[in-house]
Amino acid sequence: MSQNVLVTGCGRSYALGYNLALRYLESGDTVAASVRKPSPELEQLREKYGDKLIILTMDIGDTASVNAAAEALAAKTDHLDLIINNAVTTSPDVGKGFFDANLDYIARAIDVAAVGPMRVIKAFYPLLKKSAGTGLIMNISSEAGSISKCYRTNMIDYGMSKAALNMATMNLANTFKDDPQINIFCVHPGWIRTDGKPDNPAPLSSYEAAGILKDLFEQRREDKTGHRFITNRGEDYPF
Ligand SMILES: NC(=O)c1ccc[n+]([C@@H]2O[C@H](COP(=O)([O-])OP(=O)(O)OC[C@H]3O[C@@H](n4cnc5c(N)ncnc54)[C@H](OP(=O)(O)O)[C@@H]3O)[C@@H](O)[C@H]2O)c1
Repeated sequence: MSQNVLVTGCGRSYALGYNLALRYLESGDTVAASVRKPSPELEQLREKYGDKLIILTMDIGDTASVNAAAEALAAKTDHLDLIINNAVTTSPDVGKGFFDANLDYIARAIDVAAVGPMRVIKAFYPLLKKSAGTGLIMNISSEAGSISKCYRTNMIDYGMSKAALNMATMNLANTFKDDPQINIFCVHPGWIRTDGKPDNPAPLSSYEAAGILKDLFEQRREDKTGHRFITNRGEDYPF
């Protein structure tokens, strides 16, 4: 059965969000794809898929912007079946270690990458609640957000923001525990060539990764009791 899907951060054709949107469009689903600024790549997809693709302008670091996007979507569709929180940001100092990084950048990264998905869930929840089945929330996290597996001395803002996103996921899993109509996970999506660079050694293209994730999401839609942090292979990952 076709579904209505929201994917955040879809403006770049080589990155994951765009390819998730594309995979769902290819399956005949309706996709609300968010961008911060006009994306010629996404506009091209709209020429092909017409009304099946709804392009939303939304800055997930700005509650008013997220609420306005939710209102705009509610004017076009009566429900959502899946929310994929994919958008992310990192600071200019993401590659630096503790003594070199400007620590004042960290709060903004967390505000976008961890609080942003919560803003999205809150604003779009009324539409998700109207799904005829189980409304699913998939927060795209990272192995870098695992506290127990942390080995890095750089990527402090990124790791902290994904750890915070994982905590948000658990808190919301508790919030929705007794609601059989809502389910939520955080997912490490695999190592992916999301920068579109041919010399990137990551094994998966964004299109391949999106296909794997799409299958995984359907497998886990009704799983309310399993571990909440999973990999693209469906394995439990330690928080
Ligand atoms: N690549 C990997 O191997 C890997 C591994 C683990 C996890 N991940 C996760 O997978 C996801 C996708 O990765 P990616 O590299 O494809 O992501 P990306 O291209 O770096 O970012 C995705 C989108 O987020 C948008 N964005 C940034 N700040 C935003 C804001 N304030 N409001 C709304 N949108 C905003 C960007 O929009 P603009 O185009 O406007 O800048 C961008 O298009 C991320 O969550 C990432 O952490 C990736």
